[in-house]
Amino acid sequence: MSDHPTQLDPPGPRITPQTLRWTQALGLGPLFVRRSVLEQQGMPQSPAAAASHPLAVSVAAPMQDAPAAHAITAAAQPRSATQPPPAVFSRSNTERVSAIARMGWDELQATTQACRACKLGGSRHQAVFGSGSSQARWMIVGEAPGAEEDRQGEPFVGAAGQLLDAMLHAIGLDRRADDPQRAVYIANVLKCRPPGNRNPEPEEVAQCAPLLQRQIALLQPGLILALGRFAAQSLLGSNAPISQLRGRVHQFVGIPVIVSYHPAYLLRNPADKARVWRDLCFARNTVSRAAQD
Ligand code: URA
Repeated sequence: MSDHPTQLDPPGPRITPQTLRWTQALGLGPLFVRRSVLEQQGMPQSPAAAASHPLAVSVAAPMQDAPAAHAITAAAQPRSATQPPPAVFSRSNTERVSAIARMGWDELQATTQACRACKLGGSRHQAVFGSGSSQARWMIVGEAPGAEEDRQGEPFVGAAGQLLDAMLHAIGLDRRADDPQRAVYIANVLKCRPPGNRNPEPEEVAQCAPLLQRQIALLQPGLILALGRFAAQSLLGSNAPISQLRGRVHQFVGIPVIVSYHPAYLLRNPADKARVWRDLCFARNTVSRAAQD
């Protein structure tokens, strides 16, 4: 696996069990680190850097909903009989964050479906949690659900999603595959549709961050492909344009991240498909090399 340093992995203090305990107690977490990294005692990101990262959780930010909405119940959300009820959160965002950091897939999904942590919870039709195999080595991260995703409850199912499927097939991947070599897991930075497909707001990203962080921690993908400026900048804590972020292996808490254009952009700018093809080949080679290490 390539290990290029980025702004996400400055030399930081070594992680100790105490470090993990106090960062979680302070609500700075979820500070998750690949097990292999922890075992090597190599810290890809200091707690301070983690806290200032765009996907870090704002402990100070209160939840925006009215008190009654804090007691989240599953009543309004469809849920299978096997799913556990979503967590009932207190008013404290710190408690919310540390509860999310301990959730398994089913509880995380149920909690996402019931989430009212920001105003998007009031305008969406349904939250779009993510789709694909929990065994996938590839994770695709997009921006936010659009109208079609909001209707169907699955990420990337509109026109951009069809192009994404074609891009994935071109490198032998399939969102419906179970085989970890071909499987992908697809998620967005935001789980709820911003009205009118406007850009996500910082508070929305802050409230959604623990959900995406937990998805990444549970999945432990071999590679994250960040599609579009918003996903790339959110994951990498950067303001740099896509053109500067492409073509390198970045890291998100020890997991390689490769950046490419968003399929919706490609629909408007088909001439850039050749660039995306290069990015996909680069990503595929990066995953293959990591598998050989
Ligand atoms: N665009 C995204 O970024 N995500 C989706 O799920 C759909 C469109």
